[in-house]
Amino acid sequence: MSKPGNGAHKPNGTRPLRRSQAWFDNPGNPDMTALYLERYMNFGISQEEFQSGRPIIGIAQTGSDLSPCNRHHLDLAKRVREGIREAGGIALEFPVHPIQETGKRPTAGLDRNLAYLGLVEVLYGYPLDGVVLTIGCDKTTPACLMAAATVNIPAIALSVGPMLNGWFRGERTGSGTIVWKARELMAAGEIDYAGFVSLVASSAPSTGYCNTMGTATTMNSLAEALGMQLPGSAAIPAPHRDRQEVAYLTGKRIVEMVDEDLKPSDILTRDAFINAIRVNSAIGGSTNAPIHLNGLARHVGVELTIDDWQTYGEEIPLLVNLQPAGEYLGEDYHHAGGVPAVVNQLMSRGLINEDALTVNGKTMGENCRDAKILDEKVIWPIDRPLKEHAGFRVLRGNLFDSAIMKLSVISQEFRDRYLSNPKDPNAFEGPAVVFDGPEDYHARIDDPDLHIDETTVLFMRGAGPIGYPGAAEVVNMRAPDYLLKRGIHSLPCIGDGRQSGTSGSPSILNASPEAAAGGGLAILRTGDRVRIDLGKGTADILVPNEELARRRTELEASGGYKYPDHQTPWQEIQRSMIGQMETGAVLEPAVRYQRIAQTKGIPRDNH
Ligand code: FES
Ligand code: MG
Repeated sequence: MSKPGNGAHKPNGTRPLRRSQAWFDNPGNPDMTALYLERYMNFGISQEEFQSGRPIIGIAQTGSDLSPCNRHHLDLAKRVREGIREAGGIALEFPVHPIQETGKRPTAGLDRNLAYLGLVEVLYGYPLDGVVLTIGCDKTTPACLMAAATVNIPAIALSVGPMLNGWFRGERTGSGTIVWKARELMAAGEIDYAGFVSLVASSAPSTGYCNTMGTATTMNSLAEALGMQLPGSAAIPAPHRDRQEVAYLTGKRIVEMVDEDLKPSDILTRDAFINAIRVNSAIGGSTNAPIHLNGLARHVGVELTIDDWQTYGEEIPLLVNLQPAGEYLGEDYHHAGGVPAVVNQLMSRGLINEDALTVNGKTMGENCRDAKILDEKVIWPIDRPLKEHAGFRVLRGNLFDSAIMKLSVISQEFRDRYLSNPKDPNAFEGPAVVFDGPEDYHARIDDPDLHIDETTVLFMRGAGPIGYPGAAEVVNMRAPDYLLKRGIHSLPCIGDGRQSGTSGSPSILNASPEAAAGGGLAILRTGDRVRIDLGKGTADILVPNEELARRRTELEASGGYKYPDHQTPWQEIQRSMIGQMETGAVLEPAVRYQRIAQTKGIPRDNH
């Protein structure tokens, strides 16, 4: 197979100059070369090594004490270094702004673009020829991929891997998913707080990221489906021996990629994104995936819309039986064959663009042609899937321009209650109860005066990229305690925030534009009737247009939808330039900067 690129080693020294040579090996500027060299020689690498044509490889380290999901990367990086060295490169490890999904307030969603921005600056401004992206916890994956795409130097991702399975009294307990269940059990009085904590802690038994098909497993699987990490590597549990081995192989491979000049723009093509959309449906992937992939596509300059998720993804069946849509967890996914087995099933129906190139220099088709399902309880064959039509449905109407619903988590209970009218099997109507942020929801959800019943549709607004700020995972709301006690668990939830990928709630999410950007949610009132038609893909407030227009005039006269003040400089800066979730919630001015290693050349000398 022919490989792209122009940087292959040629005999007699005709290899094009490496990027890092502009710093370390620049005969035209010996003073500056000495200045650049001396400080990096400080930790024991000699001038000879720096000037022998070895690629300088960054290890973008996302693990730290503040980022426990990715903390194992501190160990894995040692094996990455050995691989880099073995292949003739020099490794320079550096920290990435930490993003911890469950630790960062007000939401880790605020930090994806900050980590992106920082990493772009590092990859561009330092002597790096290639980079290993240490991915894992939800937003570390898109932040790293987006930055590598913007700079466009050779890059390979390495997952930290999922945690081992959680267990409690003989049953699998999945990270995140168990929290939603434990919350309901406690609200219904079935467990006390001590029981709540031990149930939740049982789901996190080792190092690694969430073991459910939450956003972490989703995004790590999609990084592989996009072709950005070695085949078969995404699902290996963090503590496994193979995880160390794949770290070593990743280090070796990035050095070759630099020689081949195999860059993110060669891999992240529209074909690759379509593959990822289809894999996302087949794995029962998170509703955060469209935000991150649409954002990544914009940074790499590929056309990708929210409608592509329905066009290419909706018809795809669910194959992977992982919580929250199914039963099993990360270890089981790995033992069943991981991403290659899923891709192979999709290939058998012609649903994969097999020519899409991947980081190992081979195509997706070549990598997955022989991948077998090794446990059909966990990965189901495509001819008898767990569920048909497991993708996302895109909805639009006077409530928002777009929002999505994950079809694979619609439960039988939900179907029976809301989608059982034989004349209208895809639509439901009900009165809205509107909450302005999670504090309002927590304060009022159990208030009997709200008269919530099984026909109520719960709304959460003020939770988007501008309103929250950062778009928080707060849309999935439990039913009030008086309904839980009657066995009613899930009411339809709609909002302009996100939902944890570990939640199985059939919510309508990522509404764009958000209330804070003047979306229809801003003029919705408690008591309005709303109609959701999943068949037609519509979501509307059933209030006359004149009344809606009157409310909008009133809202605008009052200065727009109110949200909390900025608390940090970054909150203010990001609010001033972030786009909506439909288009990736990216920093809009950053989209103008593409492939900057090629389009902007090498930055100026610093002295
Ligand atoms: Fe970090 Fe789930 S909280 S991976
Ligand atoms: Mg999350």
